Parts: sequence; structure tokens; C-alpha cells
Amino acid sequence: MISNETEVLPLSHVPLLEVKNLKTHFLTERGKVTAVNGVSFEIHPGEIVGIVGESGCGKSVMSQSIIRLLEHSDPIEYEGEIRFDGEDLLAVPLSRLRGVRGDEISMIFQDPLSSLNPVYTIGNQIEEVLRQHQKMSKKAARNKAIDMLRATGIPSPETRVDEYPHQLSGGMQQRAMIAMALSCEPKLLIADEPTTALDVTIQAQILELIVELNRTLGMGVLFITHDLGVVSEICTSVKVMYLGQIVEDTTTEKLFRSPLHPYTQGLIKSIPRMDGNRHEKLHVIEGTVPSLSDIPRGCSFSTRCPYADEKCFSEEPLMEKADVGHSVKCWHYARINSLEGRGA
Ligand SMILES: Nc1ncnc2c1ncn2[C@@H]1O[C@H](COP(=O)(O)OP(=O)(O)O)[C@@H](O)[C@H]1O
Ligand SMILES: [Mg+2]
Repeated sequence: MISNETEVLPLSHVPLLEVKNLKTHFLTERGKVTAVNGVSFEIHPGEIVGIVGESGCGKSVMSQSIIRLLEHSDPIEYEGEIRFDGEDLLAVPLSRLRGVRGDEISMIFQDPLSSLNPVYTIGNQIEEVLRQHQKMSKKAARNKAIDMLRATGIPSPETRVDEYPHQLSGGMQQRAMIAMALSCEPKLLIADEPTTALDVTIQAQILELIVELNRTLGMGVLFITHDLGVVSEICTSVKVMYLGQIVEDTTTEKLFRSPLHPYTQGLIKSIPRMDGNRHEKLHVIEGTVPSLSDIPRGCSFSTRCPYADEKCFSEEPLMEKADVGHSVKCWHYARINSLEGRGA
């Protein structure tokens, strides 16, 4: 695990990204639905921040809102601020975002074909990014493209560089997309389940590459996943998302040692144990993530929470500081975790 509690100061005091009370509303035919509902957090240079939560919790909408990718396909309304290097990305024209994307901020997705163009070779596409964003000569861009393919573990990059996406296997395509996203040396990488579809060996190589660039370039990373095992390996801190909100926010070390929110506890209990009895029944969190048109009153997790009482069904808890660097959004976290009377 990379996190280290003795490392109190982040690499820089000035955040690279500051998300303040972000809300993302979709304007649908059946009315307005709120997929991201008041999210706030920071990423400093050199940090790897994990976002976890079940499918449908708003991780992808939140991460795509940061670079306003959704506006192209859906009617959207935002509230809040997204400060990147001091500039509010929600307040600038979309044309400015085009300069930021794939240059200062890169994004990688689960589906490589959403970023690779089928009619150009892999090399052409990486070279294009380098020539456009870093003003490299054709020859320098080609050499760097080959280097980046090599760095993602693609064998024989000198020949692969001239191939088209369809000539590569799924795992190679994923690595080529990652090479493209990282070739401009972004200040911030947003990775949305980038390795979920890959086999474990390739997944490990890609995680290693991301961590290496994070360490050598000080690249900030927002790493979205539903896999808590990956979080424990690479993330410095973690935000747990439920129904468009952050419900627990702390260091990776604390999250696994003393998870406070019943939702986080459920997620951790559902991790398959490598050393466990194979016939042991895996814990599941009862029920499913509610639809956005049916968000519960009070605490959004109340309908699935084993500890919920009247207060939880009627009043929304605030995010509360439970400990240094540990916040939680739950009325009863102190009682549930026997912290009452201990100054929590
Ligand atoms: N274009 C859209 N219009 C309306 N609702 C959407 C749209 N895209 C996503 N959603 C809803 O937003 C919520 C969060 O989705 P998403 O961010 O994809 O979840 P996650 O990435 O955590 O699995 C879901 O309820 C989903 O149905
Ligand atoms: Mg998603």
C-alpha cells in the first residue's frame, strides 16, 4: 500500500483540483434528476485519490463533469465550482475545455474504443496528441509514441505503432489508449474503471505505470473503481460515493482499518477474501441503489441501512469530522462504531 500515515503533508499545499459543492442535473423528459448531489474534494499534485461505490452511484457522471464531457450528448445543468489550477472549469467556455482536455487533464475509460479512432493508426493518434499539445516535430512525436507504447508494456512497439486499433487485442487497445492519455504528461489523470475489463497481469502492469508517472511527474490521479482491492494497492485517500454524494472520506489506511459508514462497512465486507473459506457466503449489501427519481428522504442510504431509525428516514445528516482526516455522513456512526464517550 502506498499510503503512509506519517506522511502528513501532501506534496504541495496548493490543490491541483478543487471541486466545491458540485451538482450535476440531467434535464430529462420526465424532469430534472440529480446524479451528482453536492460533492466537494481536492486533489493535490502527486496524490492518487480513489472514488469507490456500487454501480449507479454517480462516479462516472461526477468524473466526466470535471471536464464537462457530458454536455455534448445530454442536456445538463451544473452547480458549484471546479477549480483546476485556479481556473473555474464550470465558468469557462467549452472551447477553453478543449485546450485543457488531453493536455493538462487526461481521461481514460473502461472502453478503449471510445477514445481510439478506427481509421488512424495507433501511432498517428498518439503523434497527433503530441504535435498538437506539445508542439513536437513529426520525428520527435513518433519516437515518443513508440516510447509510450513500450512503457505501457506493448511488445514490439516499433511495429505496433503502425497498426490500426482493430489489429490489436482488447488489452493492447486499452494500453494504447492509456499511452495516448499519458503521452502529453497531464497534470491530472482521471481514470474511470480503466482496468476492470483486463486480466489481472495486464491490470497490474497498468496500475504500476500510473503509479510510476504519479511518482516521477507528480501527476495527480482521480481513480474511479468499484474494486476496493485496487484502491488498497494504489490510492493515498478514498472517497466513498453513494447516490451522488460522498458519504465517507479518509486515507486509504483509515478506510480499511476503521470504516465508519455502514455503507463502507458493507462494501468492505463484500470483498472476496483470498484466504477465506471458499464456501463461505459473501456478504452483500441488501437491496439496490435507488433510481434518481426515487431518492430517499433523510439519509440517502436509510432504505438499505441495518441501523436506520426515524431520524435517518426524515433528516439528512451532514458530513461530520469523526477524526483527523476522516469525515462521515451518518447520524449514528459514533454509536454503531462504539465511539461514543471517546470524543468522537
Ligand atoms: N444521460 C443521463 N441521463 C439521465 N440519467 C443518467 C444519465 N447518465 C447517467 N445517469 C444516471 O446517473 C446515475 C449515476 O450514473 P453513473 O455515474 O454512470 O454511475 P457509476 O459510474 O457510479 O456506475 C445513474 O442513476 C444513472 O442512471
Ligand atoms: Mg461508471
